[in-house]
Amino acid sequence: MMKNLLFTLCMACLTLVSNPAAAQTEIPLPKPDFPNTMSLAEALQTRRSSRDFANPRRLSDQMLSNLLWAACGVSSADGKITAPSAMNKQDIRVYVCRADGAYLYDPRANTLTQVSATDLRPAVAGRQAFAAQAPVSLVLVSDLTLFNHNAEQMGSIDVGYVSQNICLACTALGIKTVPRMTMDAAALRSALSLPETTALLINHPVGY
Ligand SMILES: Cc1cc2nc3c(=O)[nH]c(=O)nc-3n(C[C@H](O)[C@H](O)[C@H](O)COP(=O)(O)O)c2cc1C
Repeated sequence: MMKNLLFTLCMACLTLVSNPAAAQTEIPLPKPDFPNTMSLAEALQTRRSSRDFANPRRLSDQMLSNLLWAACGVSSADGKITAPSAMNKQDIRVYVCRADGAYLYDPRANTLTQVSATDLRPAVAGRQAFAAQAPVSLVLVSDLTLFNHNAEQMGSIDVGYVSQNICLACTALGIKTVPRMTMDAAALRSALSLPETTALLINHPVGY
């Protein structure tokens, strides 16, 4: 009995040493579930950038799940996503930065995988301090390795669709955001361990 327990513990330690990803926290998100939201015309009419994130109200997991699904979640059985994507490469990665750390959204598993235990919202805010007050900041990154030509152009265009999905979803869900290129890109690149083959393109502080 004791031997078995020891063996299991050793195997668990070995797994963690050989595969640091296994040590990362994975948070399952609730299924996206949209309440009765406004019409598309109303969302287009009323969408506005907001820079006031003083309200400390947090986003529920349900709200975050809805927002991430709208951004670039899986929307069909063949694996296509809510945003169009050049050659369907689905290159846009969404990082969720909150007080308790930073997480990578996995649209297929509908989970968040922790990639940092640090509050990176000040790095996302950069010189625009208001953004650090938002309970959540989404950071949009393109994986340029997926393209074999015009990678930077395609990544920049793809991110625009995801960003607009976020803008319209926030409006429809009754929350606020602003798309921003301002950020401390060097600090974020280092904290999120982003290689030079990725493009850190835009971020969205989100709150009430
Ligand atoms: C590519 C892009 C970059 C932007 N960067 C910033 C930014 O760094 N900081 C900011 O406060 N707003 C930023 N904005 C928001 C624009 O200032 C805003 O969309 C514009 O003033 C129009 O206002 P509206 O979104 O309310 O219609 C950016 C918007 C886009 C599309």
